[in-house]
Amino acid sequence: MHYVHLKTPAMKRLERTEDMTKILVTGATGNVSRQVADILLERGASVRAGVRDPRRAADLAARGAEVVRYDHDDESTLDATYEGVERAFILVPFVPDFAELGARAVESAKKAGVHFVAKLSAAGADSTSDFWLAKNHGQSDRGVEDSGMAYTILRPSFFQDNVFTYAGDVIRATGTFYGAAGDQRVVFVSSKDVADVAATALLDPETHANQTYDLTGDEALTNDEVAGLLSEAAGRTITYTNVTLDRYAAMLRENGTQPLFVDAFCGLESIKANGWAATPSPHVERVLGRAPEPVTPTSSCATRNV
Ligand SMILES: NC(=O)c1ccc[n+]([C@@H]2O[C@H](COP(=O)([O-])OP(=O)(O)OC[C@H]3O[C@@H](n4cnc5c(N)ncnc54)[C@H](OP(=O)(O)O)[C@@H]3O)[C@@H](O)[C@H]2O)c1
Repeated sequence: MHYVHLKTPAMKRLERTEDMTKILVTGATGNVSRQVADILLERGASVRAGVRDPRRAADLAARGAEVVRYDHDDESTLDATYEGVERAFILVPFVPDFAELGARAVESAKKAGVHFVAKLSAAGADSTSDFWLAKNHGQSDRGVEDSGMAYTILRPSFFQDNVFTYAGDVIRATGTFYGAAGDQRVVFVSSKDVADVAATALLDPETHANQTYDLTGDEALTNDEVAGLLSEAAGRTITYTNVTLDRYAAMLRENGTQPLFVDAFCGLESIKANGWAATPSPHVERVLGRAPEPVTPTSSCATRNV
């Protein structure tokens, strides 16, 4: 009897309604996205995790997430990933053509009928900026704003984790980390707070629709103060070494950093050195109803073996 295998239109509608409550998290093996997926699962949401390598998201699958292969560089995975979800967290990786990747992701989301997008951007995003990183994020954000989908754009300051992500090996080897920010203060943000704001918006899109949030901690620190906190946490002396911007660029080149990223990292150091990253924003507290996490490197020092 073939008819028992056929789905009536009503059954299909019901199935789609159930699917539509699912929230897509792209890049779910990455720092922020992984924490977004974790928080959504903890709060009982139905999650689809879009990842390049599903084997690396086995633990999310074990916790009930639907894990699908999603690769910005593989067209065949794009549209399908957004099919049947109502809300999506869009992360564009830090690669040279990330504005194009973001545009393609937004196009797929729109085509699939996604209603709400939470998009990870960056502080200072501005489509008219001379600084390519700010310009690309700004263009990407503009694509979301113009898409007709409701959105929340998240513009975090510098992540607290950066010192481990980018300088963990150097600190382990030499006990110091380098920069060109002088003694200017920077207001870092915890990547967990960024993820928490994203998850909160994804679970309550009506409240957060068409908002752009600047995400920071509430305390601006100099790099010497960061070094002091790292020393306390690691139980040994860790210092900050300030160098000129030219020297900083040369060090990056010596490490094999490609020119576009030398430009990006030097631009970011200039932003810090000019004191443009020192002002706290109230948005984390406003959205989460609690103070932002302070800079406390203890657990990071332990897990990163610094
Ligand atoms: N670090 C900061 O201080 C800071 C501040 C503000 C904004 N941001 C922005 O935050 C974003 C980075 O977030 P994050 O630190 O959470 O990133 P991350 O940890 O580097 O994770 C990036 C994720 O993107 C995935 N990915 C890479 N290439 C992909 C592709 N072609 N297709 C699909 N997925 C791909 C990675 O997958 P794999 O695991 O397979 O590699 C990973 O899951 C960037 O847009 C950056 O500009 C960063």
